[in-house]
Amino acid sequence: MPLPIYRTAPAPILQAAPAPLPKTAPAPLSLTAPAPLSLTAPAPLPQTVPAPMRADTAIPRHVAIIMDGNGRWAAARHLPRVAGHRAGAQAVRRAIEAAIRAGVEWLTLYAFSSENWQRPNDEVSDLTGLLRHYLRTEVAELHAEHVRLRTIGDRTRFGPDIVRELHQAEHLTRNNSRLNLTVALSYGGRSEIVAAARALAAAAAAGQLDPANITEETFGQHLFTTFMPDPDLVIRTSGERRVSNFLLWQSAYAEFLFPEVLWPDFSQVHFDSALADYAQRERRFGARPA
Ligand code: FPP
Repeated sequence: MPLPIYRTAPAPILQAAPAPLPKTAPAPLSLTAPAPLSLTAPAPLPQTVPAPMRADTAIPRHVAIIMDGNGRWAAARHLPRVAGHRAGAQAVRRAIEAAIRAGVEWLTLYAFSSENWQRPNDEVSDLTGLLRHYLRTEVAELHAEHVRLRTIGDRTRFGPDIVRELHQAEHLTRNNSRLNLTVALSYGGRSEIVAAARALAAAAAAGQLDPANITEETFGQHLFTTFMPDPDLVIRTSGERRVSNFLLWQSAYAEFLFPEVLWPDFSQVHFDSALADYAQRERRFGARPA
């Protein structure tokens, strides 16, 4: 079944002008008598205080999602876990469509962690089969919709046939730029950081690199994610509040959101709601308004 992605220009969202400040006269600042609290018309900020650096001027450029809750979704329906993963694959489509409609440039999905290999063989086999099926049935449509597909993680662990399919999909979609879709496969943030440290240490030991010249930028260039911007928004579904080894370095200043929805139920509504929540956040990147 083809991806029912809009082929017409998507309706812009979250681009409405922010609500104007109240036109009433500002309450005077006083050290002795505080301005009375008003539930209807809050006093505008004094002109000397700069507007906070809000995110609502832009949609997040990069959304990363920890897709969680497939097992619980299946259990609630007395179905085998694989049914939850299959329904999760359908939700992947909806997330891609929602990202395209919203104008998000980068979407990164945590499909299989390096720890997921510890799951029972049956489930690993089901997930691997689902990935193979997804590649065979969805890549043409992703390409038609100008989606560029890439992966991060140690995909060699999935075997030569999946590595070959992934390579072909990446090659086919390499010139697409409507949405950069990255799927994390056998991915672990800690091992990614250790591998970068090891590579830099080896270069230093070989006399090719002065340790004093190692910066956050050079370190980042040794991560899987060197081709992408850091995520602006990380969503984990199912109400769990953990990062589970996902984009540990890259999400240093990301906004996090933990909606209750189980991943197989995730849809456009949840994606748009997440973006609306993001739009309310004040991102400071560790600084303070001047
Ligand atoms: C977490 O739910 C989900 C996973 C470990 C796998 C994610 C896989 C998919 C969404 C489908 C396949 C994806 C692609 C790209 C083809 P869980 O099993 O841990 O759920 P639980 O916490 O409720 O048990």
